[in-house]
Amino acid sequence: MDIDDITTISVLGAGNMGHGIAEVAAMAGYDVVLRDIEEELVQDGYEQIEWSLNKLAEKDQLTDEEAEAAIERITPLVDLEEAVSDADVVIEAVPEVMDIKKEVYTEIDEYAPEEAIFATNTSSLSITDLSEVTDRAEQFCGMHFFNPPVRMDLVEVVSGAHTSGETLDAIEDLAVAMDKTPVRVRKDVPGFIVNRILVPLMNEAAWLVEDDVASIAEVDSTTKFDIGLPMGSFELADYVGIDVGYHVLDYMNDELGQRYEPCPLMVEKVEAEQYGQKSGEGFYDYEDGDGADVP
Ligand code: 3HC
Repeated sequence: MDIDDITTISVLGAGNMGHGIAEVAAMAGYDVVLRDIEEELVQDGYEQIEWSLNKLAEKDQLTDEEAEAAIERITPLVDLEEAVSDADVVIEAVPEVMDIKKEVYTEIDEYAPEEAIFATNTSSLSITDLSEVTDRAEQFCGMHFFNPPVRMDLVEVVSGAHTSGETLDAIEDLAVAMDKTPVRVRKDVPGFIVNRILVPLMNEAAWLVEDDVASIAEVDSTTKFDIGLPMGSFELADYVGIDVGYHVLDYMNDELGQRYEPCPLMVEKVEAEQYGQKSGEGFYDYEDGDGADVP
């Protein structure tokens, strides 16, 4: 499979990442299937794409016609077999849990065309382990987007132990066709490049508050104005989902050792289901408060 053979992309999972990836693929002119396990979840994702495309059109980053054409290229679906039966590339963005992902791959390996490439948007999990539940480990790699996909330029293209050069080339070309900048990650290590750096940063920020060194807003001000990141560490954790950061840390802790052990402050938030913006409350309050309150 090379880039010229790719016309249809199936995106599995319509959450923050899935719907954003589907949007970017549709904007690049691909026919896109957006799939989740319930009608309501697919509909939510679809509406968020509509919102985002309208926003881009309002800001003249897209014409109204381009926005309309992009949304028309997206077919929302729940049935998994139907969702992947015509796919040239499947981009999977289901929850960051190894067993859930393996279950999905075992199933779609039967339903998707033999030549289709499987690309996982996993934030940290082993590409090799995931690929080995399929009969197409050579056609399997990581394609890791960043939130929000429509705004973030980078895509990590991650090689598993069995991934062919042809597959990596095709997915890198696909990232370029989606107007992204791919970086190839040569080894299948937990957290790849970005999360290996970014998630420990969020964890260290949480330890500073846990140890009563500074408040959440003070740490965030420092992250933004001294270290120069576009968001504070806690704002970013709320934005990507504290549960996502927690799962990445937990996996890196298992695979790489205790220096990645999640801070109790993060664990408490995950246990209380306060994941950040998506649940209305995280380190900041997005329902009654004004969201992040960083000077
Ligand atoms: N589509 C369209 N518009 C969007 C949007 C989207 N998906 N998301 C936000 N916007 C709009 C907002 O509504 C706002 O509109 P308004 O001006 O009408 O109110 C506008 O964009 C804000 O854009 P600005 O450029 O003015 O704002 P910023 O300069 O603050 O940029 C940002 C926003 C690009 C999100 C920036 O804050 C940023 O880069 N943050 C860091 C994000 C980051 O690091 N992401 C990676 C996280 S790690 C990850 O995803 C990996 C995972 O595995 C954990």
